Amino acid sequence: MTETAQQQDLTIIPVRHFDFEFPDNLDPVWVPDNPYRAHFFNGVSLTMPYLEPFLCKTMREALQLVDDKQLLEDMRGFIGQEAQHYRCHRRLNERLTKNGHPQFAEIEKRIADAYDRLAERSMRTRLAYSAGFECMTNGFTNWLIGDRKALFQNAQVDVTSFWLAHMAEECEHKTVAFDVYEKLYGAYWPRAFGVIHGSAHVLGLGCVGMMSALGRDSSDSLFRRTWGVLCQSSAIIVKVGPFMARALGPNYNPRQESEPEWLNQWLSFNAELDNQGPMPVIDTGSEEMGLPLRSQPAA
Ligand SMILES: [Fe+2]
Ligand SMILES: [Fe+2]
Repeated sequence: MTETAQQQDLTIIPVRHFDFEFPDNLDPVWVPDNPYRAHFFNGVSLTMPYLEPFLCKTMREALQLVDDKQLLEDMRGFIGQEAQHYRCHRRLNERLTKNGHPQFAEIEKRIADAYDRLAERSMRTRLAYSAGFECMTNGFTNWLIGDRKALFQNAQVDVTSFWLAHMAEECEHKTVAFDVYEKLYGAYWPRAFGVIHGSAHVLGLGCVGMMSALGRDSSDSLFRRTWGVLCQSSAIIVKVGPFMARALGPNYNPRQESEPEWLNQWLSFNAELDNQGPMPVIDTGSEEMGLPLRSQPAA
């Protein structure tokens, strides 16, 4: 905590160092026997080194427009956390690209173009997009952390731990983009459109990556592949859809959403290390996939 912040009694969103490293021989199908789930998250990961810099840039510009000290502190924490996330996603994506998916490089160019275009839009549109995307992400946080055993039992530990850590921090800063939008604009319909825009844009781009990866390394029949994609899509609709639906309400506030219990354990674990790491790695082979966690490097 900075001296200034302590004096003014502000709440600080900590910026932790995402020091995850991914093994040279990382299997892109890092969820055992489930290329659909693995490649869905790989596809979403491809968007992050473009989406999250876009969020940071939008928020940095908005810093000039906000005068609320707590909100300014939250925005700095948001920017710091997102910057850590996308750098780590970039390392993961490079590994995935090297380990069997060179086509990701071309897809990343398309994603970069999409965010260059989005960056031309008005501040209101960009903030509504940012707030809407963050509302959807809160659904992913609750899904991934709450269902971690069903989703990631025996999955590759570094990738799983990274995704769960990313989602934990998303929950930690879930109110920031919403608060900035409300402070600067507050209009309901653009924010509601932002929920659809932010969610559909990221998921759509992520699906391009997923489909390309499945096309490359799945030997499943077209019927089986279609079924696998449908199952993955249905899970997202069932698990994340309600969060998006609530975010579309005119009186929505992300503070209304409860937080998964495991998140508090993860936060406590990091707080004991003064949020200076190393980042905890989860033993995905353990029954609970909970605490105690072990710290990097993997034993
Ligand atoms: Fe993030
Ligand atoms: Fe975020």
